[in-house]
Amino acid sequence: MALLKIAKLGNPVLRQVAKPVDLNELTDPESEIQAFIDDMIETMHHEGGVGLAAPQVNRSIQIVVLEYAENERYPGEIAIPLTVLVNPVLSDYSAETKEGWESCLSLADFRGLVPRSTTITLNAYDRWGKKIQKTVSGFEAVVLQHEIDHLKGLVFLDRMKDFTKLSYQAEFEEFWVKKEGATPS
Ligand code: NI
Repeated sequence: MALLKIAKLGNPVLRQVAKPVDLNELTDPESEIQAFIDDMIETMHHEGGVGLAAPQVNRSIQIVVLEYAENERYPGEIAIPLTVLVNPVLSDYSAETKEGWESCLSLADFRGLVPRSTTITLNAYDRWGKKIQKTVSGFEAVVLQHEIDHLKGLVFLDRMKDFTKLSYQAEFEEFWVKKEGATPS
């Protein structure tokens, strides 16, 4: 396994539409793609992220990984088990939205308040090519929208409506964390 380099804002790979993964390649024992998925998981853990999309490690293909264990930094958020999604598609975005604070490994130190649909439908494949379909709400829905945006060449700044609270991490903690909950990703 290996740690992968994080692409930061300004790197054109973050602004490309990622290519779908060939499901035959996914399950081919000769393919390196399973090792790449393991590297993505290891990199997400190492960086302390809740999710990671392949373009964020310089590969413009449609894979995201997510995992969230409850911790003191974000009290009250429900844990998300380790999940690997291949060619994920979201639909049925609820009209109801909720604003939450987001961050991104590709935007290093920034925190911004982002409106997201509270409920969505996910269609995807797991790392072995098995179909996944489920309705998702709450924190997991936010993380999914954030990560799958990366596959469309979007970052959370593109979804913000109000930039007046856009903060660096230290200022976020000083001025906002006591007033509002934080949503990391
Ligand atoms: Ni991100």
